[in-house]
Amino acid sequence: MDRWEGRVAVVTGASSGIGKSIATELVERGMIVVGLARRVELVQDLSRSLADRKGKLFAVKADVRKEDDVVEAFDWVRKNLGGVHVLVNNAGMGAYSPLTNMDREQYEKVQTCFGTNVMGMVMCSSEALKLMRENGIDDGHIININSVLGHFITRRCGLHVYSASRYAVTVLTEGLRRELAEAKSMIRVTIAEITVRPVGEDA
Ligand SMILES: NC(=O)c1ccc[n+]([C@@H]2O[C@H](COP(=O)([O-])OP(=O)(O)OC[C@H]3O[C@@H](n4cnc5c(N)ncnc54)[C@H](OP(=O)(O)O)[C@@H]3O)[C@@H](O)[C@H]2O)c1
Repeated sequence: MDRWEGRVAVVTGASSGIGKSIATELVERGMIVVGLARRVELVQDLSRSLADRKGKLFAVKADVRKEDDVVEAFDWVRKNLGGVHVLVNNAGMGAYSPLTNMDREQYEKVQTCFGTNVMGMVMCSSEALKLMRENGIDDGHIININSVLGHFITRRCGLHVYSASRYAVTVLTEGLRRELAEAKSMIRVTIAEITVRPVGEDA
């Protein structure tokens, strides 16, 4: 971990849950962290609470579904910090959407789910890669927070839309990893799996 001290990490969805914990841990280990979220005030609160730690947390407001927000957030990084060494694509959401009971409200839910979990990840990864290239960073790391539902088709009805978005994360992560490997880049791409299943429960 020492080699990351003083380097820049972008963590999406840093206002709560797993993203907040990741941002906190990285700041404690000396990284300069940019936390993206819509509820930017929560990231600002977190930043204040981490003021005496080794690293630093900057809060930037962004809805990762929106292209302009994502481009502007990474422009902020470019102007204020230069490059990015680590990206944690954590912003995401679950969705309960029974496929046999779709209506306009459900269509919007599906769009939000794919917009956040898939498009958000694709756009943030692309913008981060641009910043890595611009700054000659060839040992960067992109970490995509995923779910075990990105690897098998659950028997639980209502979760297939969410699961499909997580399969997309699995495929796109592996695709990016292969493209970077083909280009002989040393930038790593990793999936971190989170399980939704309480121990012992059948999926
Ligand atoms: N917890 C689990 O059991 C579990 C299981 C499998 C996978 N996961 C995945 O792990 C990740 C974190 O989960 P969590 O449990 O920590 O969830 P959480 O507490 O609900 O936090 C989600 C985070 O994502 C951010 N976010 C959501 N939509 C966003 C958007 N459009 N633009 C920017 N930020 C957005 C939220 O920030 P704002 O609302 O402030 O924007 C929040 O910081 C998610 O991708 C989730 O799907 C979690």
